[in-house]
Amino acid sequence: MKFTNKSFKKYKSEGEKITMLTAYDYYSAMFIEQAGIDTILVGDSVGMVVMGHEDTTRVTLEDIIHHVKAVRKGAKNTFIVADMPFLTYNIDVVETMKNAGRLISEAGADAVKVEGGERSYDTIRAILKLQIPVVAHLGLTPQSVNLSGFGVKAKTERDIAETIKAAKELEKMGVSAIVLECIPPNVATYISSILSIPTIGIGAGVGCDGQVLVLQDMLGITTEFKPKFVKTYMDLKVDIVKALKEYNQDVKTANFPMPEHEYKRVDIDVERVVQ
Ligand code: KIV
Repeated sequence: MKFTNKSFKKYKSEGEKITMLTAYDYYSAMFIEQAGIDTILVGDSVGMVVMGHEDTTRVTLEDIIHHVKAVRKGAKNTFIVADMPFLTYNIDVVETMKNAGRLISEAGADAVKVEGGERSYDTIRAILKLQIPVVAHLGLTPQSVNLSGFGVKAKTERDIAETIKAAKELEKMGVSAIVLECIPPNVATYISSILSIPTIGIGAGVGCDGQVLVLQDMLGITTEFKPKFVKTYMDLKVDIVKALKEYNQDVKTANFPMPEHEYKRVDIDVERVVQ
């Protein structure tokens, strides 16, 4: 059955784990849909794994719209969550609402994701007012790395209490789910146990109601840095480089293209035509 916004709570109440993977292009989205993954996140991680930036803060609304459009074409029946990029929310409420609206009406997403607890409450209320489903994001929020860095969050009593308080408040506001990134597993399990909406973990342990990974990480494409929470299901970069080397060699040695890659020859003496 098609995953919809209502499915978040339904899956949670029935104890069915929710799967989410990131995608940024047509074919990845198509493969994810074929694999039966419940939801796709067009994350601002696109800035790092597609555009080569050091963090996500340089991603724009236009970037996300561009990628959501491609993903929607590849995965017509999958629930798509689009990230609200840095500086597209929490500044001006009307601007925030317009930006969230464009991700739905222009790009084709089903929901938007917003980073942050208390600092994003006004934003989230405004987007929900437009009847746009919101997925919240607590713990490590990559758009804040310049201030708070990467690494595990919610490790002190104060931070744990703050995260729990924010999770409860976000549930009360009406968000559909909460991404919990890089927080200790017992904290994530506790938060998951007190909410009626699902938590989607990334580096937050098995006690979450669902899991999300960056596609390039789990396929073994990213090379620079592998966080502890990533499980690589294949080492695709090895096969990609092998194939590229073979192609290079084939062209240099005239072993590509072969007759089976050529169109039918014309039955004309080509040299005579130009005389
Ligand atoms: O942008 C992204 O891919 C994310 C996930 C890491 C949750 O926000």
